[in-house]
Amino acid sequence: MTATPTPRIILTGDRPTGRLHIGHYAGSLRRRVELQNAGTYDAIYIMIADAQALTDNADRPERIRESILEVALDYLAVGLDPELSTLLVQSALPALYQLTFFYMNLVTVARLSRNPTVKSEIQMREFGASIPVGFFTYPISQAADITAFDATTVPVGVDQLPMLEQTREIVHRFNSWYGDTLVEPEALLPEDEASRRLPGTDGQAKMSKSLGNCIYLSDSADELKQKVMNMFTDPNHLRVSDPGKVEGNPVFTYLDAFSSDADFADFLPEYENLEALKAHYERGGLGDVKVKRFLLAVLDRLLRPIRERRQAYAADPGEVMAILRRGTEKARGVTDATLERVRAAMQIEYFG
Ligand code: TRP
Repeated sequence: MTATPTPRIILTGDRPTGRLHIGHYAGSLRRRVELQNAGTYDAIYIMIADAQALTDNADRPERIRESILEVALDYLAVGLDPELSTLLVQSALPALYQLTFFYMNLVTVARLSRNPTVKSEIQMREFGASIPVGFFTYPISQAADITAFDATTVPVGVDQLPMLEQTREIVHRFNSWYGDTLVEPEALLPEDEASRRLPGTDGQAKMSKSLGNCIYLSDSADELKQKVMNMFTDPNHLRVSDPGKVEGNPVFTYLDAFSSDADFADFLPEYENLEALKAHYERGGLGDVKVKRFLLAVLDRLLRPIRERRQAYAADPGEVMAILRRGTEKARGVTDATLERVRAAMQIEYFG
């Protein structure tokens, strides 16, 4: 007898709190498109997590509402293809709320309080003692997102690892109490360190809208140029002849994440590769402007087609919303089926 292999299923998503930036691209979007085009997964679901975004934006629903279309445009612009990847909106899936409610009984308050991502988000938002219960418990709803699709693989940035750990704990507990029902997921992180933690243009650890240090996928060529040419570098690299530092220098981190040897051949042939450029910078004699001009060429080559595709889709928002509606309808069938399985396992389907 041969066991049927578990289907390989991807689920991942983003909170719609604004347009997506190149940190999202390096951290997760790029990987999603590669996996989609490789065709090695049985299904790919990409979720716009608006219900999760509302957990700390309940008083600003219009901000979330407006971002749904923006995020969908970013998805389509980077090359997610609705024929191959199902694009969907979280809040329209009632099964997720029910799963969340049942999973809440499998997690302790102490366990949630230890979640390092939630901890640092609470600090950043200065909630103090006024943490919304929904925000505090969003790792549980994220476990519902992941398990509702029987996801085996969740491509995310490192900051999401605690959510995956929480999900796996819920899966273990559920399956041990109610019998084998839920699929245990794995995270898929970017391969290189630079893409895992892309800093802001100001050198701060993270790109974030509130810090104003983002390069958006939708930035115009002029905005891109201005942001790159004004980037923070090594503050002690004052004269061209001074030796410079590449560690903690976001210009070089971006080159780590985005440049290829082909970029050198095409835009800066006097250097064979990034190692040679870094060595010259560290020795002294290489100015920031030259490095920034190269980075600009690299990013422009990457972002120009994304920007153009985004503009083309933006001309027909009705079609973009129709893509989301179709994806969400398909997702409703999938998540409702999981909920039925869960209710049966919990012995609460009293009426058949
Ligand atoms: N927490 C994720 C973020 O902040 C968004 C998200 C919601 C998610 N549900 C998910 C990611 C399920 C992966 C899987 O970006």
